[in-house]
Amino acid sequence: MNRKKLGFGVIGCGRISAKHFEAIAALPTAELAAVCDVVLERADRAAVTHGARGYYTYPELLKRADVDIVTIATPSGSHAEIAVAAAQAGKHVLVEKPMAMRAEDLDRMIEACRRAGVKLGVIHQNRFNPAVRALRAALEAGRFGRLTHAQATVRWHRDEAYYAQAPWRGTKEQDGGVLMNQSIHNIDLLQWMLGGVESVFGYTATALRPIEMEDVAVAVLRGAGGALGVIEAATTIYPRNLEETLNVFGATGSAVIGGLAINRVETWDFADGAAEREAMLAAREADPPDVYGFGHTALFADMIEAVLEDRPPAVPGEEGRKAVEIVLGIYRSVAEGRPVPLSGGVK
Ligand SMILES: NC(=O)c1ccc[n+]([C@@H]2O[C@H](COP(=O)([O-])OP(=O)(O)OC[C@H]3O[C@@H](n4cnc5c(N)ncnc54)[C@H](O)[C@@H]3O)[C@@H](O)[C@H]2O)c1
Repeated sequence: MNRKKLGFGVIGCGRISAKHFEAIAALPTAELAAVCDVVLERADRAAVTHGARGYYTYPELLKRADVDIVTIATPSGSHAEIAVAAAQAGKHVLVEKPMAMRAEDLDRMIEACRRAGVKLGVIHQNRFNPAVRALRAALEAGRFGRLTHAQATVRWHRDEAYYAQAPWRGTKEQDGGVLMNQSIHNIDLLQWMLGGVESVFGYTATALRPIEMEDVAVAVLRGAGGALGVIEAATTIYPRNLEETLNVFGATGSAVIGGLAINRVETWDFADGAAEREAMLAAREADPPDVYGFGHTALFADMIEAVLEDRPPAVPGEEGRKAVEIVLGIYRSVAEGRPVPLSGGVK
């Protein structure tokens, strides 16, 4: 690979693709080579707007030699098929969340990328929010002492018009409900802070929206290190998005990162750094213009570095799978009416 820039192919030119185009344009080491959408006008529009070649089927895009990294921004149920084909074509894979929707799909994506010797990165961009990075650094430095519990809260508003935008939204096969779609980022952060999850128990309901899957969910869990966890997730909040908040508590530290999308320090108290509290609270970020936040560009930059330095990306497939396994565990717990042990999440 002698080119200075890595060539990107973006598959799926819907809502979130704007963040992909923005990230690629912002990075000097990235170049958009090709785009693809099965809706012809979307592929054409993206191709013209961003100066790239447009395709209507992804196997055609995968034939291009100047595509090094494929980003997958199609309905969630289609991620695995496209990721496996991309890996087999020798492309590195950067896939939107949720990585996939079934355990066997998670496995075959990881295996296909391993066999092909390509990187598999999962887009959990909130890991790059400055406040989240500070929280993770505090955790790694042992500043919380013994962790007691953590909570992930997603209180958002998605009305009927949102679900009517595309037929895949809210479906069992292609999207899942608020757990699999909207709150998967926060579940990822929760499990990351807890060092994996051992077991889950949950309740879900389809309370207000006309969708196949849940629009409100609560769950409790036990982290691998013994700390407990709580998930509360809803797209039913009246009348607008309220918050996406991560709380982490330990013997010698309390941190709450809230705001619209886990972007703002609300609480920052550590036994070893009382002086820092005011600075952390003063540096509170403004809410981003949308719930997607600002993390895509940093995550794309990390993926490029991972390819160039031949190291794992910040959120590799093995890590991206854990949040999905937690959601699948909650779905199973709801179906069986009992706590469900998770084997995959403990690593
Ligand atoms: N990281 C985030 O914060 C974030 C935010 C929103 C969505 N997402 C994820 O991104 C994915 C897409 O969501 P969206 O809101 O952009 O959806 P969308 O419906 O707006 O866009 C999806 C696009 O994919 C196209 N498509 C479907 N099948 C295709 C195929 N086989 N080949 C090529 N194109 C195909 C559709 O025509 C559509 O234009 C989902 O997995 C979603 O969970 C992530």
